[in-house]
Amino acid sequence: MDGYAHVGDDSPLPAAAGGESPGPLGLADFRRRRREETPLVCLTAYDATFARLVDAAGADLVLVGDSLGMVVQGHDSTVPVSMDDMVYHTRLVARGLRRAYLVADMPFASYDTPERAVRNAARLLQEGGARMVKLESTRRQEEIVRVLGDEGIPVCAHLGLRPQSVYKTGGFRVAGRKAEERRRIEEDAARLVEAGADLLLLECVPADLAAAVTRASSVPVIGIGAGPGVDGQILVLYDVLGLSAGHRPRFAKDYLALAGGSVARALDLYVREVRGRIYPGPEHIYAD
Ligand code: KIV
Repeated sequence: MDGYAHVGDDSPLPAAAGGESPGPLGLADFRRRRREETPLVCLTAYDATFARLVDAAGADLVLVGDSLGMVVQGHDSTVPVSMDDMVYHTRLVARGLRRAYLVADMPFASYDTPERAVRNAARLLQEGGARMVKLESTRRQEEIVRVLGDEGIPVCAHLGLRPQSVYKTGGFRVAGRKAEERRRIEEDAARLVEAGADLLLLECVPADLAAAVTRASSVPVIGIGAGPGVDGQILVLYDVLGLSAGHRPRFAKDYLALAGGSVARALDLYVREVRGRIYPGPEHIYAD
């Protein structure tokens, strides 16, 4: 049964997994989706109006990404985003959601010690209304993931391209193309799950690497620029609406243009294309 109606939609594409409650989704729903092989549909949002539209379109998970530093604040990276910025935007988005699961990013340098990580993650849950926090992670964050879990804070570990490190790595580039880097990502994913990560997110990695991490993982894996072999897809809302300025990543798809300028139809199309495994297509994928 579909938890929400698409007005005027007579498409045969699958809309939602069977037996799911219409109320707020939880981690158990995501684990069931993984078992049932029904893709999770995820999007970013930064304010209440877009959160309401994304929720109404049927997205399962909404991320308040620190990408807000680029698409909302106009910076050239996510590094300047502060904890106060994240708490503020998370609170706005929480007001727009009824069904989708709310995840908020921990911004740059907000989780450099276990103590700071717990204090800042608690703000996103208590003041922002998030259900889970996302951290850009390697094995260096293992202890932090463990400590957050011990405090009862669900964690999404974000691997692959880690935008908070672009000043060090030299830019936004595909991660895991070299054998050594690929092995590190596979090992780090396993270690972070072992440490208690509840979700993994892979950004800009070759499709076969993402598929291998997903097969080996015991928790759902969401991808962006990671090909079709993951458990769910996420895109930055402004890429879906063709609004992002500057470089357009290979995996971006302008659904607003396809939907003739209607935001509601654009979001509906994205949801149905992810669930129907139409998005991502071969043109959105990175190879080795
Ligand atoms: O900040 C963000 O929007 C993200 C997505 C790219 C997944 O982390």
